[in-house]
Amino acid sequence: MLRTHTCGELNINNLGQTVTLCGWVQKSRDLGGTTFIDVRDRYGLTQLVLNIDTDASLRETSRTLGREFVIKVSGTVIERTNKNTKIPTGEIEIAVESIEVLNSSKVPPFMIEDETDGGEELRAKYRYLDLRRNPIRNNLVLRHKMAQEVRKYLDMLDFIEVETPVLIKSTPEGARDFVVPSRMNPGEFYALPQSPQTFKQLLMVSGFDRYFQIVKCFRDEDLRADRQPEFTQIDCEMAFITQEDILNIFEGLTRHLFKALKGIEFNDFPRMQYADAMRLYGSDKPDIRFGMQFVELNDIVKGKGLGIFDSAELVVGINAKGCADYTRKQIDELTEWLKRPQIGATGMIYCRYNTDGTLKSSVDKFYSEDDLTNWAAAFEAEPGDLILVLAGNADKARKQLNELRLEMGNRLGLRDKNIYAPLWVLDFPLLEFDEESGRYHAMHHPFTSPKPEDIALLDTNPGDVRANAYDLVINGTEIGGGSIRIHDRALQALMFKHLGFTAEEAQKQFGFLMDAFEYGAPPHGGIAFGFDRLCSIFAGLDSIRDVIAFPKNNSGRDVMIDSPSTIADTQLKELKIKTAL
Ligand code: AMO
Repeated sequence: MLRTHTCGELNINNLGQTVTLCGWVQKSRDLGGTTFIDVRDRYGLTQLVLNIDTDASLRETSRTLGREFVIKVSGTVIERTNKNTKIPTGEIEIAVESIEVLNSSKVPPFMIEDETDGGEELRAKYRYLDLRRNPIRNNLVLRHKMAQEVRKYLDMLDFIEVETPVLIKSTPEGARDFVVPSRMNPGEFYALPQSPQTFKQLLMVSGFDRYFQIVKCFRDEDLRADRQPEFTQIDCEMAFITQEDILNIFEGLTRHLFKALKGIEFNDFPRMQYADAMRLYGSDKPDIRFGMQFVELNDIVKGKGLGIFDSAELVVGINAKGCADYTRKQIDELTEWLKRPQIGATGMIYCRYNTDGTLKSSVDKFYSEDDLTNWAAAFEAEPGDLILVLAGNADKARKQLNELRLEMGNRLGLRDKNIYAPLWVLDFPLLEFDEESGRYHAMHHPFTSPKPEDIALLDTNPGDVRANAYDLVINGTEIGGGSIRIHDRALQALMFKHLGFTAEEAQKQFGFLMDAFEYGAPPHGGIAFGFDRLCSIFAGLDSIRDVIAFPKNNSGRDVMIDSPSTIADTQLKELKIKTAL
């Protein structure tokens, strides 16, 4: 090896030792006869001291050194006079005897330090430099440790890691597929998997019993902070289990990860019905780090002549505790925030519960002090609180109030990144109606089993059929989702029928799975965690981008390698693809 030690390991115990270090020049300070250089590698930072007054060759080399030059230095570990207690190597420095430049560097386009001056676009273009920075590297170290712990836990429980193919078949369900043309089969395409769902179910038919895979998945969907076109799942499937078994085993995995990586222990995770999550939080992934649950007001506000309430399907509000002193300006600003197209509320009604005990609303013309006392009671409000109310179509009002609740949670500092609130959301609907296509879609995926007691409703009230489906939510982020699967050909065929497939279409798309169900398919179920999301929650980040070594930007581009890109006409010809232009 070129070095005897790393830049992060020397300390007072190494005094007097002759050492050789390799690393990058972080910065260099010339103080007359002495030059100080900070040399950095993945393990830390060590201060070098060069006595350039007495050593001409050191003087020569040190003058050529710039930021990010790669150097190899030898010298003796000595005690520093000016100690830095903030870093593990802060008590020592290396009195350099020789220095060799292993490679030079252009001046980097941004500071490679914890706090950098580089904008997002620039750092993305030079991602390999951004990855030299501690905060980003630490995220990848965390990711690595997490993957190790996942494997450790699942291996302990007899799960087998099996790789499934990446070139598969396009299906109409779910998000859009990324497709890959097949040269050997002109005019035909593979699709990249949105998840290994059908393969893991086939592995259950094959008797593997407990499968997992830390696996790349691909979805051509609009991107957000918690979505990338290629992302990683901890994908799992088990045979001969109940929903309760899956919840326990994967609650166990989550607990194991929190304990191993953050030293945090949890009691049993709370569980909530999907219907309650929607009613109390307007979201299927409630952030339960704070309360501020919805209160429905239809019974107490209707019939007093206020049109927007009387005509509304739902009047629903939250109690922003301690916010009665919000000024008119602040409330107007909040209302404008709600009216932005991203949220789309038409307005907001409020009622202040002043500290002197009086109640004052924005609709006092319609509601007496007694009426408002009823409002306050419904919210269990106290003097000093501010009640915020939305009205309209029930689904829309709930969605908008969910946004308002999260925003108020942020403003009131109730969403501390160091506090973790896991939650199981259970009993999702099997189907959801899609206005655009005018038909029902599988809410999770078409392989999810309906609750046996709800199967009869499939013909009459498909929207009311509940599924054996569950999500793991942490701090308002959907971390994982899964279900107990259909393992019976007839029920799977019925499901496809309800999703609008003809028998021929179902056979063409998913015949392989239904055929497999005829050869002794065991009852089975599973779950997949979004690995990137889990890492970003553990790292306290708002976006999954910085737990991914080489992520895409919001337009799905990798600006470093400049992808996607056009391909040569010869390639297109070989693939028998006509250009659209
Ligand atoms: P689902 O579609 O819910 O289920 O995906 C599982 C988890 O993957 C994460 N996830 C994403 N993460 C980053 N970027 C994306 N674009 C993205 N899309 C999803 C989420 C989500 O909870 N086969 C089923 C699982 C099963 O039934 O076992 C599936 O893929 O955290």
